[in-house]
Order: sequence, then C-alpha cells, then structure tokens
Amino acid sequence: MSSAQSHRNQIKVGILGATGTVGQRFIQLLSTHPYFVIHALGASSRSAGQRYGKVTKWKLNTPIPQEIGNMVVQECKPDAQGFKDCGVVFSGLDADVAGEIEEAFRSANLIIFSNSKNYRRDPLCPLIVPLVNPSHLSIIPHQKKTLGLEKGYIVTNANCSTTGLVVPLAALEKAFGPLETVMVTTLQAISGAGYPGVSALDILDNVVPHIGGEEEKIEWETNKILGGLNSSNTEFDLHSTESTKAINVSATTTRVPVIDGHTGVVSVKFRQSPPPSMEEIDKAFREFRCEAQELNVPSAPPQAIVVHDAPDRPQPRLDKDIHNGACVSVGRVRPCPVLDVKFVCLIDNVRLGAATSSIMNAEIAVEKGLIV
Ligand SMILES: NC(=O)c1ccc[n+]([C@@H]2O[C@H](COP(=O)([O-])OP(=O)(O)OC[C@H]3O[C@@H](n4cnc5c(N)ncnc54)[C@H](OP(=O)(O)O)[C@@H]3O)[C@@H](O)[C@H]2O)c1
Repeated sequence: MSSAQSHRNQIKVGILGATGTVGQRFIQLLSTHPYFVIHALGASSRSAGQRYGKVTKWKLNTPIPQEIGNMVVQECKPDAQGFKDCGVVFSGLDADVAGEIEEAFRSANLIIFSNSKNYRRDPLCPLIVPLVNPSHLSIIPHQKKTLGLEKGYIVTNANCSTTGLVVPLAALEKAFGPLETVMVTTLQAISGAGYPGVSALDILDNVVPHIGGEEEKIEWETNKILGGLNSSNTEFDLHSTESTKAINVSATTTRVPVIDGHTGVVSVKFRQSPPPSMEEIDKAFREFRCEAQELNVPSAPPQAIVVHDAPDRPQPRLDKDIHNGACVSVGRVRPCPVLDVKFVCLIDNVRLGAATSSIMNAEIAVEKGLIV
C-alpha cells in the first residue's frame, strides 16, 4: 500500500457535469474510492436544486449509489454549497461552458481535473494521459505562480481517441526512439458524443465519416502529450511542426453504432532505420510499464497495454472492460507495406478515455504532494 493509500482522511471531491455521460462514470468510480469521497455535485440550472437520483438519466449498469442519489445538485459556481471544501474538483462539463466555469473555480483557488477541450492547448496547463506523461504535472507550480494563485490550478486529460492512440505510441517511442509518421482511422462509439448524442436514425445501420473537431484534436494533442517540458518546468516542447521532433499525425475519425469503446486503426513509421522487427514491437507493447504503475496508484491497471493474439481482436464489446476499462488493448500487429508497422487499438472512451484518466491523474498528483 502506498503512502497516500494508508492515509485515513479521504479528500473531499466535487464533480462538475455530474449528470452527464462522463459525470456518471465519475460517480461510479469515485463512490468506492480509497483516496476520494464525493462531497459536491454540479450541473446546469436545469438540474440544480434537485435530487441527483431524480434528475439524472442514469445509463450505467450498476445502480446509483444511494447516498449519491439523495444529494442535491448544485449550480456550477465555486461558492455553491460544498465546493469550497473540496480538495479536488473533477469536471465533465460540456465544452460550451467548461472554459468559464473551470476558470472561475481555479480563480477561487480550487484544483480542477478537466475532461473538456478548453484548456488542453493552454501553455500553462498540463495535458496528461496518466499512462504516458504524468511528469508534465511539474508545470503546476509555474501555473500557480504565473496566475498568482496559492492553491488553484487546472490539469486536463486528452480527447478519448487521442488517449487510446498515445499509449501504444509511447510504448514504441520508449523502446525505439522518436516516431516520424502516424496515420490513424478511428471507429468511435456513440457514448463519445454524450447524451442524447447522435440520433438513432443517423447512426443505426450506418457509419458517419465525420466528427467535428476530432481529427484536429488527435493530430495536435499527440504532440503535446509525447513532447517534453523544459528544464525549468515552465514551457512545453510541443513536438511542434517546426521542431524536427514533431510526429506527422494524420487522423480520420468516424462514428459507428457501438455504445462504448473507440477503435483506432493505426500505421506508424519510425525515425529509426531499419525499423524494429514485428517481434521487437510486440515485445515493446507487452513490456511497457509506466509511472502510474510504479507509483501503484489505485486506478493504475496491472497492464497499461493488453496485447491480443487472436486475429479478430480487440473488439469493443469483448475487450473494453479489461482491467476495469483502464488499459488500452492492442492487436493485429503486423508489417505495413507503406509505413513500418500497423495495428489496431481499443480504448473504453468514457473510462480511460475520460473519467478514469482524470481520477488517475489526481491520484498521481496526490502521490506527488500536489493535492493535500
Ligand atoms: N463522452 C465521452 O466519451 C468523453 C470522452 C472524453 C471527454 N469528453 C468530454 O467531457 C465533457 C462531458 O462530456 P459528456 O459526454 O459527459 O457530455 P454530456 O453527457 O452531454 O454531459 C454534459 C454535462 O454538462 C452539464 N452542463 C451542460 N450545460 C451546462 C451549463 N450551462 N452549466 C453547467 N453545467 C452544464 C450537463 O448538465 P445537465 O444534465 O444539467 O444539462 C451535464 O452534466 C465534454 O467536454 C466532452 O467533450 C467526453
């Protein structure tokens, strides 16, 4: 058991967007959490003032924990009941409102772990996939200092498809050095669009070959996540297009009639020539270990990457629940006749793709003394 796991006092947490798709996963994952205890719930004025159990269209296959069902939903304001006592506030807010609300919470010296896109590109905010780059948390003192805040800061996690992609890419970079080119086509689940999301008439018996803004997120976020921080922990090396280290990423994103689980069909070219063999690549995926596992935080999966040998795996319905949805599945690792290697990856978009990443990031921040 790690030091924080042995602490008796749980940290009170708030959830913004608690009624939504990501918010419900937060509730499910946090209701039995060893570090955190749910203390405040926030949503829109449509829900505020009502009992959580009454106002939420609960879509998970476990019941709403009774004590949570009885809590009253608050407006997303830092002075609303409960939030000011919270050591961490998790956000699953709609991106249309997340920017202003999260900034108001940070200015009130609250610590935000956000799933929304609004601060991912902010030069002061880390964009962290917990199985890849928790070292980027080191920019937090600079964020607080620059903004003149004693305690408040914002940490973001990545777009759900980006997260499923960068974990295997990180394993390849760790073993074989920088990558040159990545081509990815995604097959994304409908839960990725929130509730009620895409209409049944649009998605049943169909594939929709466009998800607004998604391709740009994958192409940009990959380079921030896999890039570094400068030695004074004040600036990200974005692996930007001007940099020789930039990975050329090209993404095509599609929506498919799957409820949970985003699949990515990936081809990669290494900078190393000749490229590693398929056996070496397979071994790099299987042996990949990350800081979250070394820290032994509660949400860290025993394997960050699960490699499937069967030629028809991974599949969303069969594989999204492995390790409680906290890992990435990889399969069909084989030579690419155009680039070097191709493979298929799968992520649970609402767990590791959203709520689990936020929670694991906060667990790591606890272990690093950034949340007390
Ligand atoms: N779904 C995924 O797989 C996924 C993965 C990664 C990241 N994300 C990101 O996570 C965020 C939430 O996504 P989601 O899928 O959970 O969306 P969602 O199901 O539509 O839920 C949105 C939440 O935001 C709240 N909200 C909406 N307008 C508000 C306002 N004016 N003030 C305060 N709260 C407001 C809603 O409350 P009411 O119920 O009261 O309307 C609800 O709790 C988005 O930024 C999304 O891009 C989602």
